[in-house]
Amino acid sequence: MDSSSVFLRISLLMFLFIFTAYKNVHAANIFSIRDNKAIPDGKTDCSQALSSAWAKACAVDGGTVLVPSGTYYVKSALLQGPCNGKTIFSVMGTLKASAAPISQESWIEFNHVDNLAITGNGVFDGQGASTWAHKHNQNAKNFSPGTPSLKLKFVRNSSIEGITSMNSKMFHVHVNNCDGLVINHVSILAPEDSPNTDGIHVGASNNVHISNAKIATGDDCISLGPGSTNIDISSIKCGPGHGISIGSLGKYPDEENVAGITVRNCTLSNTQNGVRIKTWAPSPPSSVSDVTFQDIILNNAYNPIIIDQQYCPSNTCSHKGESSVQIKGVKFINIRGSSSIPAAVNVVCSKSRPCQDIEFLGLNIIVNGKGQPTTATCSNVNAKFLGNQVPTRCA
Ligand SMILES: *[C@@H]1O[C@H](CO)[C@@H](O)[C@H](O)[C@H]1NC(C)=O
Ligand SMILES: *[C@@H]1O[C@H](CO)[C@@H](O)[C@H](O)[C@H]1NC(C)=O
Repeated sequence: MDSSSVFLRISLLMFLFIFTAYKNVHAANIFSIRDNKAIPDGKTDCSQALSSAWAKACAVDGGTVLVPSGTYYVKSALLQGPCNGKTIFSVMGTLKASAAPISQESWIEFNHVDNLAITGNGVFDGQGASTWAHKHNQNAKNFSPGTPSLKLKFVRNSSIEGITSMNSKMFHVHVNNCDGLVINHVSILAPEDSPNTDGIHVGASNNVHISNAKIATGDDCISLGPGSTNIDISSIKCGPGHGISIGSLGKYPDEENVAGITVRNCTLSNTQNGVRIKTWAPSPPSSVSDVTFQDIILNNAYNPIIIDQQYCPSNTCSHKGESSVQIKGVKFINIRGSSSIPAAVNVVCSKSRPCQDIEFLGLNIIVNGKGQPTTATCSNVNAKFLGNQVPTRCA
């Protein structure tokens, strides 16, 4: 044997050895909820099984919780870190909530976890129908906000990939106090008339990337609350739903600012709104700055572009005073398609803090089915319409 073939054999042996060791480590680090007494009958509460599997996976670096195929009823689960390294939550089956209301803050929550990967082609089924019916029947005063399905709180450098969320009681995915999160290729589904079922709601979080999501729901496809910074949203298909929103802001004192938001390459079909920024009035001071909405296609949006600083969803506000949320540096670039009404751009800024540096470039929005040009109205703002576009300028 010459030296090169000896080298080759040694290399091959080493490869096999490492590969086998790697496989064994991996098999040992998978904790199926089935092995932790979960029963996939859709009725037996698997909360404890989920928590046990989580505790084991969280204790090792690279631990995986596996939800295999089958339907597992989970009453609620709070999956706490910090864990001992990277943790994977692999959902191949369906996790099903109760049809009755949940008293916890969330249905399935990951809390204080770093390097978490939520993956798989499985489903989070929030069973929201009875909660929605309850909300529809209540008057505004007794309004109960419901419970988000999947909540990430104090989660860093993590990802959500591939999963489906359906029929959440409230938000489908609630991202709160997170830093460094990638949400990619998720599907979100709820009826058009289901209240408060925002697809992905982000608040008090930095460095969040959301892409390739398909969202059809009853409220905002994506909403960004106070304290959202460095958020990049791209390649989203939204509709039905209320579009992609920043806000509502200014409801509570001491809200954190919103800054560094880009929304690119999204298609919104039959949505109530296209892209919007909304603040309550009156409202305590905070700011929204450095926002770009670019390359957006609208198919029959009811309110394609709105800045609304007198936001009041159920019209119960007396608007005694102006919003003190300063909106500054917002670009709407290359937004095209159709609006269901002629008024495609509505910018209502605060009298006490007029919007600053608002630019429109390359709009081409026509009235759906009629082909007429749309119009723009603006107040308390000196909006710049650059070049030729439809609508052409503020009336
Ligand atoms: C998160 O990722 C960033 C950038 O890669 C890194 O600097 C930071 O230490 C990470 N934090 C955690 C908690 O893993
Ligand atoms: C735009 O989004 C679509 C899906 O909605 C995707 O297929 C396409 O690759 C995206 N293009 C860019 C340039 O990101």
